[in-house]
Amino acid sequence: MIKLISSFRIKSGMKETFIKKAHELIEKSRREPGNIHYDLCQSVTEEGTMAFIESWRSPEALKEHEASEHFTATVPELAKFMESGPVSAIYDEVSGKSPSGPLFKRRSIRSFRENAPVEKEKITRILEAGMCAPSGGGKAPWEFLVVTDEKARKAVSEMSPHAKMAAKAPALIITLALPDISFKGNRWPLDLSACTQNMLIQIADEGLGGVWLGFYPEDERMEKLRQYFKLPESVVPFSVIAFGYGDKENEYADRYDESKVHYEKY
Ligand SMILES: Cc1cc2nc3c(=O)[nH]c(=O)nc-3n(C[C@H](O)[C@H](O)[C@H](O)COP(=O)(O)O)c2cc1C
Repeated sequence: MIKLISSFRIKSGMKETFIKKAHELIEKSRREPGNIHYDLCQSVTEEGTMAFIESWRSPEALKEHEASEHFTATVPELAKFMESGPVSAIYDEVSGKSPSGPLFKRRSIRSFRENAPVEKEKITRILEAGMCAPSGGGKAPWEFLVVTDEKARKAVSEMSPHAKMAAKAPALIITLALPDISFKGNRWPLDLSACTQNMLIQIADEGLGGVWLGFYPEDERMEKLRQYFKLPESVVPFSVIAFGYGDKENEYADRYDESKVHYEKY
């Protein structure tokens, strides 16, 4: 992560004006790719000094930002407005560990490159990842239906109001639960959720993109899958994963929220 810390000496009586203008500029730049957040801090060592801090995910993200018009729309504009430039500007590459690995690359990808089928080896590794998932009592109550046929994908895309991308995704994996072998007969929705998530992570690690399409617990949608694919009574269609080569990079979403974490007691 990169932090750009620009300190401004605030003339007396101008603090509120500075804060208001800074917020206005932050709003303008919000949601720039790669931007984690802006902070506005009061210096604890120098009275009357405030720091405007921009945090960027990576040097690459910052480079991209520098080439955009937003780069001149925050600190320089703030300096112009306050009629005095920042008294100091620090560029700090924070060495703290930022999340990495396939788990953090997983996002829901809903549009795919055309004419880019998924290699059989990749599909097999994705299924392997699914079968690696934890399950109640280690029962692994799952099976999988891999669908690449265009007509069948189109049919699936019409089985749920939120599944239209299934028609354009080169491949689908339909997860099937086996309640009869599930731990205590009722753990299968938990097991199949873990299994679906494992496959989504592997999809990201294979340089692919995918999305979980919700079928369970919507009876009507599940029944449509059952009828179309002539599934036996012993299996329950649970989720559909639509995947392929995404038409854009998976982007890490920083969703860590300290307020949701409780240590030792609530
Ligand atoms: C149980 C479940 C069902 C979902 N169903 C759908 C769906 O039917 N269609 C869809 O486009 N996305 C679906 N999603 C994906 C979520 O919309 C997505 O995970 C969420 O918006 C967060 O975005 P992210 O996956 O990019 O982190 C589903 C996700 C879960 C866990």
